[in-house]
Amino acid sequence: MPMVTNDELMQKAKDGGYAVGAFNMNNMEIIQGIVSACQEKNSPAIIAVSEGAIKYAGFNFILSLYRTAVDESGLPLALHLDHGKDLEVIKRCIEGGFTSVMIDASQLPFEENVAATREVVELAHPAGISVEGELGRLAGVEDIVDVDEREAILTDPQSAAEFVEATGVDSLAVAIGTSHGAYKFKSDPKLDIKRLKEIVASCNIPIVLHGASGVPDWVLERATKYGAQLKGARGVPNEAIAEAVKNGVCKVNIDTDLRLAMLGAVREVLTETPQQFDPRKYLGPAREAIKRVVTEKIDLLGSAGKA
Ligand code: G3H
Ligand code: 13P
Ligand code: ZN
Repeated sequence: MPMVTNDELMQKAKDGGYAVGAFNMNNMEIIQGIVSACQEKNSPAIIAVSEGAIKYAGFNFILSLYRTAVDESGLPLALHLDHGKDLEVIKRCIEGGFTSVMIDASQLPFEENVAATREVVELAHPAGISVEGELGRLAGVEDIVDVDEREAILTDPQSAAEFVEATGVDSLAVAIGTSHGAYKFKSDPKLDIKRLKEIVASCNIPIVLHGASGVPDWVLERATKYGAQLKGARGVPNEAIAEAVKNGVCKVNIDTDLRLAMLGAVREVLTETPQQFDPRKYLGPAREAIKRVVTEKIDLLGSAGKA
């Protein structure tokens, strides 16, 4: 199975009515946990790598881990730059072996976002690399009381269609009420599904949901039982993710749940066996916890058996 672009995976997901998980990777145990779950479920996946991850692990280590994962598993796995902002890093990914890049210029005014995104599309497409753009800013819907503010932050369906047309992006990350990290909602979690439906209807490309971690109970309970301080942590409920996928989201980004799962596993081992100092004894369980999270996401997104 060759390396694949996000676009290939997402177009298939769009036609099939399911979504592909994009899981952030920073080291060997994380990618092994992801791939092991995908193998058991015969699922495709997007290996997402942030600029921070590249800085942490090193470009060549990231690339080697990905290539080994593809060779060992035979699965359709994409290697995707997550939230690319630095054009030099984006160029290196395009030239150096990534199969997809995201240009996140969502903090800029519309026209500047279009120009920055268009520039990346022009670099990436001749090289066969797919591009994800972003329009809107991620913020929990409940935090936005003012209607004008809400409209300024969440993705406007008409602007989204103009953005897609003007940039030539292959997929679009949208703001419908999710946010990054472990503290997404103070009260009842809510996504703007009506807005999502309008965006899907106005843009004929796959739609991406960032900030989609669920902060599962078992993950939170394990981490806090062993001393993690995560008061008020709350994610997007599974039902809301399922609803978003049903209504056209084709790529679902998960990082926080992997971080929390690793944390709980490492804390448990270090608390239960304080004399332990073999890294395999705490990173092994961390890898297992990653695998469990990814297995649950594959079931939630409906990508099992789609490899
Ligand atoms: O959305 C961002 C991802 O969670 C990656 O985070 O930039 O700290 O690696 P990072
Ligand atoms: P979470 O923080 O909800 O896991 O979102 C991750 C993400 O959007 C990565 O791009
Ligand atoms: Zn994100």
